[in-house]
Amino acid sequence: MSKRFIGVETRYKIKDNLNISKPILLLRSKKSFYLNGAYNLIQSFEIKNNLHEYFNFSNDIILSEVKKAYSFFIKKKCFSILAIGGGSVIDMAKAIKFYANYFNTPNKNFFIKENKLANKIPIIAVPTTAGTGSEETHFATVYYKKKKYSFSHKDLRPEVSIVDPYFLKTVPKKIFATTGFDAFSQAIESYWSRGSTSRSRMYSRKAINLIEKNLLDACLKKSSSSSLKMSIASNLSGRAINISKTTAPHSLSYGINQILGFPHGHAVALTLGKFFKINKKKITQRSDKIKFVNLLKLLNVKNESEAENKWYRLMKLCGLNTNFVSLGLRNKAIIEKILKKVNAERLNNHPVKLEGNDLRHLFLD
Ligand SMILES: [Fe+2]
Repeated sequence: MSKRFIGVETRYKIKDNLNISKPILLLRSKKSFYLNGAYNLIQSFEIKNNLHEYFNFSNDIILSEVKKAYSFFIKKKCFSILAIGGGSVIDMAKAIKFYANYFNTPNKNFFIKENKLANKIPIIAVPTTAGTGSEETHFATVYYKKKKYSFSHKDLRPEVSIVDPYFLKTVPKKIFATTGFDAFSQAIESYWSRGSTSRSRMYSRKAINLIEKNLLDACLKKSSSSSLKMSIASNLSGRAINISKTTAPHSLSYGINQILGFPHGHAVALTLGKFFKINKKKITQRSDKIKFVNLLKLLNVKNESEAENKWYRLMKLCGLNTNFVSLGLRNKAIIEKILKKVNAERLNNHPVKLEGNDLRHLFLD
């Protein structure tokens, strides 16, 4: 059973939940750790001797980096992980925990699911951006031989998540926008996904409501009220996809991110807006039609065209480029490369069947 602390001043719960009698691996971001207040907070705990910092890994984690981080974990005789940072920092904690169980298996087996994790390293996850909801999910992604792999295990969900909007104060507007759109996309994809349940849709509904009302204000003004609501919404979007997983926009985002280098949330949002019309056209099942109508209501729009317009207008207002031509997304060679990197598992979770040509037209129409 995971413990969760969300809200103003919850950062002080970090120390209460650390087992400071044994060495702890502190995973953190490189620069923002010093800017967002996390460094000063950790200093105030006065537990330096048992805290071993590690930050030498990229935003898109590579399997070889996981191996190095795990070696550091072993060298310092750590027992638990405190991960303070964005989605990749928390994903690294899960990757180390996963790797700790399979360190002596060949690389190709790293991504195979097993029934039990013998080595249950406790993770305390403290997100410092409002977006991925990684503190609530039992999966993460790692690059191996330039391909992005998602791995999952029920025991990978962090034991403790602490979500304090305090860390958002110094997040640059552009990052706020990309992570905010990641949370928005996750909540929407979860809502319409094949894997959704009544519980996941309850989380999605709450997240969509909060994001729809607060994302623009949070991106432009970063008021404390909208930042708090975005941090709650991001956590809810994580809880939603932890049950349902994501769908086609996330599936396409991996290639867009790798080939064009756009941040994750931007890469996801770019295609999500196009799926309102595609889904509407292709949905046949009654239950999916009902979900679609309810989703439009949640977004405060009358139909799929309004939803698409609202989506891209909001992206622009938040400072994200939506012009497919200038971004290179009308280039046929690039489109083919993106399609080659589609994640089949996420695509199969989309509410309607999508062929290669549907995806090609998405970029070209
Ligand atoms: Fe995401």
